[in-house]
Amino acid sequence: MSGGPLRLAVLVSGSGTNLQALLDAPAAPFEVVVVGADREDTGGVERARARGIPTFVCRVADHPDRAGWDAALARSLATHDVDLVVSAGFMKVLGPQVLAAHRVVNTHPALLPSFPGAHGVRDALAHGVRVTGCTCHWVDAGVDTGPVIDQRAVRVEDGDTVETLHERIKVQERAMLVEVLTRLASDRSWR
Ligand code: GAR
Repeated sequence: MSGGPLRLAVLVSGSGTNLQALLDAPAAPFEVVVVGADREDTGGVERARARGIPTFVCRVADHPDRAGWDAALARSLATHDVDLVVSAGFMKVLGPQVLAAHRVVNTHPALLPSFPGAHGVRDALAHGVRVTGCTCHWVDAGVDTGPVIDQRAVRVEDGDTVETLHERIKVQERAMLVEVLTRLASDRSWR
């Protein structure tokens, strides 16, 4: 490792259990320095506040258009000295200003390139696949299209609902995310 812990900004839209896995990772070579959300009252922001980590909310509705929101999100991130942005259940497509300023890692609840988008678990279940899983990938301008970093497979069980399947995927996803960020912290050749 070089230069101390990898400084992470984590973006969330929901309950934030992936964020929590990062916060709880023992002896991690990374540090969550700020958590941002695209909406009020997310569990993710609550989890960050409980740890005394700075937070911000940047809502699309508070800006005239997507470009204005992208610029505001880029400004919020720029006030923190971050090495890497992690999209952990962030349900928005990031814009060009954020992507020009940061490398971004996303976690997605399906085996990309299958089932991209906001409903990866539902779409995989509806398709009838017997194996799905989760993917950690670099973010590019597309929707869940960037280079894959790591994946975990999860079997679909008879009787699975979107909720039961998603919960089993998230168990794998949290472990994958911690492992990926640990690797990215120890080998920073991606910077
Ligand atoms: C995770 O499963 C993540 O992959 C998914 O939202 C969940 C967030 O859980 N993201 C997407 O579907 C993005 N397309 P969490 O809030 O408990 O970390």
